[in-house]
Amino acid sequence: MSTSARKRDHLRVALEQDVEFRLKSAGFEAWDFVHCALPEMDLRDVDASTPFLGKTLAFPLLVEGMTGGCRDAEAVNEAMAAACRDQRTAMGLGSLRQLVEDKKQRKSYRVVRDTAPEIALLGNIGGVQLALWDSFGPLQEICHDLRLDGMAVHLNPLQECLQPEGEPRFRGVLLAVERLIRSLDIPVIVKEVGCGLSVNVVRLLHSAGVEWFDIGGAGGTSWAALEAHRSQDRSVADCFREWGIPTSRCLEALQAMDRIQIIASGGIRDGIALAKSLALGARMGGAALPFLRAWHKKGYEGIRQLMDVWHQTLRRVLFLTGSRKIEDLRRKEILYRRS
Ligand SMILES: Cc1cc2nc3c(=O)[nH]c(=O)nc-3n(C[C@H](O)[C@H](O)[C@H](O)COP(=O)(O)O)c2cc1C
Repeated sequence: MSTSARKRDHLRVALEQDVEFRLKSAGFEAWDFVHCALPEMDLRDVDASTPFLGKTLAFPLLVEGMTGGCRDAEAVNEAMAAACRDQRTAMGLGSLRQLVEDKKQRKSYRVVRDTAPEIALLGNIGGVQLALWDSFGPLQEICHDLRLDGMAVHLNPLQECLQPEGEPRFRGVLLAVERLIRSLDIPVIVKEVGCGLSVNVVRLLHSAGVEWFDIGGAGGTSWAALEAHRSQDRSVADCFREWGIPTSRCLEALQAMDRIQIIASGGIRDGIALAKSLALGARMGGAALPFLRAWHKKGYEGIRQLMDVWHQTLRRVLFLTGSRKIEDLRRKEILYRRS
């Protein structure tokens, strides 16, 4: 199956099937905020704005990279970009591999910058792919052409070893990431896509020069579930449906590491979970599936409305915890673990 057909398949399966973890959650329900009955401010004093890669967002949300390079991608990306522009959030593109290999699909990526010239926008490429390329020249060109603010490198060993056309060849990926950092003049963000980043992996990448990490933890979209729907024989993929480190657990484990910047994603499903992820140390929260489904139901308006609900919820969490700005959510005593 071609890369383009596979991307289309992923969108279709994610929209039509049950592709989320069933038994494991991202773990945010284990935490609660300490309610503050005396906020000593008005709700309108709350400021959720956040700097991200040189841009200012209305609140710390990234629509995670999903698509590009296939027939349906243009409509999805155009609506996502318009909603991110109007709600002032950040957006990620789906893998740029297709664009590097075949310029025919350019429009499905280009539409994002044309629709939203000013948003904080991330490119996306697989670590496996990087390790196979001798030169990053074509990727550098795309970065300039689309005026990307950062490049997300996805690590997806589970998906690669389960999908029928997968490439589970992870030798040399760390070195390739190091080379990429030297080749690009924008930050490189390393992300998982639903199994989480462990402390050891983050340490290795950090010593290779990576500062930004997108957790992509377990509890939301399960690539084993998604690939099971695409395989002839789903028996192996089914065994891995619940595989991975829950997002909140990754965040907790990474709290001891300073000098790294974290985006929390994987199973963030509302503004409360977003707020909890920030209180657990993340700079930003990210989500993919909820925005894809919102688009499927009501197009641009569905995405815009969902973002607005998350924004309004986050503002109220700030208010109800006596926090004027996002930074204040990182106070030590603000969260407690439910017994
Ligand atoms: C349909 C679909 C396509 C995706 N494509 C990509 C991709 O091309 N590159 C990538 O890094 N992650 C991709 N992801 C993973 C997301 O960026 C995100 O890491 C993951 O879905 C976890 O977030 P969620 O639980 O909010 O969905 C995709 C996710 C979905 C649902």
